[in-house]
Amino acid sequence: MKEKIENLRSEIELAMEKTATGTELYQLKLKFQAELKTIMGGMKDLPKEEKPAFGKIVNEFKQAMEEKFELRAIVVREKEMQAKYEKERIDISMPGKNRKNGALHPITLVKNELIDIFAGMGFKVFEGPEIETDYYNFTALNTPKDHPARDMQDTFYLAENLLLRTQTSAGQIRVMEKQSPPIKILSPGRVFRSDDDATHSPMFHQMEGLVVDKGITLCDLQGMLAEFARKMFSETTKVRLRPSYFPFTEPSVEVDLSCSECGGKGCRLCKGTGWIEVLGAGMVNRHVLENCGVNPDEYTGFAFGMGVERIAMLKYGINNIKTLFENDIRFISQFE
Ligand code: PHE
Repeated sequence: MKEKIENLRSEIELAMEKTATGTELYQLKLKFQAELKTIMGGMKDLPKEEKPAFGKIVNEFKQAMEEKFELRAIVVREKEMQAKYEKERIDISMPGKNRKNGALHPITLVKNELIDIFAGMGFKVFEGPEIETDYYNFTALNTPKDHPARDMQDTFYLAENLLLRTQTSAGQIRVMEKQSPPIKILSPGRVFRSDDDATHSPMFHQMEGLVVDKGITLCDLQGMLAEFARKMFSETTKVRLRPSYFPFTEPSVEVDLSCSECGGKGCRLCKGTGWIEVLGAGMVNRHVLENCGVNPDEYTGFAFGMGVERIAMLKYGINNIKTLFENDIRFISQFE
């Protein structure tokens, strides 16, 4: 019996030295308890007078081993923590990863600024679909099939009556069909035309404005545009309206701003004229109002449409529209 105890002691002690984790130590303890139980089970075969002495030995052995397990538990826990620290160690001398902050694209900046300016004058934003029917993009805008004005915009057709919208003006119809006056909306969005050079891109952005109410006149349009020019460019920027033609406005105007580069004296940017053309506008044609169920004898309105790229190019002095779409980080990071 004594020999069995001694064997178990040395076996467990040896194994205990090798434990490295709490789990291993716990497994060993279970094993020890099981073996000890077997030894204690053998006690019943001992002669009666030897039992008390042997019981004492077993008890002392049990206590001594339990203490050892406790001490080992402290060591093992320490080891485990050490290993964990080692694994999670942070090398504070290592150079950090340089993460660059993103910035808004100049088109987004200008679009947001335009929305801010017009929202300040009470305009609400409406966004129409980029794929339009022929009706919304042309016919309802007083531009029926075979109308020569369709040639003003080279259109990408998807099907006979389905196209990529060439102008955000399509949104005017969508709004007037759903809403009755007073109407005051701003409609930003992408438009598409088969057109490609230094100042034209097949995809570009427009910002459409539409105001319909009783007693709206061209003076309201001019006053509102003057306010826009002052806010977008400078306090001294002047607005000039020139007669023009759009099927959906009557009268129609082309709107120029005094050149921000030379202040109107004439320079290369304004080709010596002192003026820069920025948008098309006019009084909503009565046929367009009628097409949307608005009574043209009761209501009048004005509309305008400007190219967001054009405004961005003027504001930031960009001379090629393509730089706005190449996404060259050296170019766009200048607008942070
Ligand atoms: N839709 C016209 C264009 O793209 C601009 C415009 C809008 C003109 C509203 C008048 C009124 O050229």
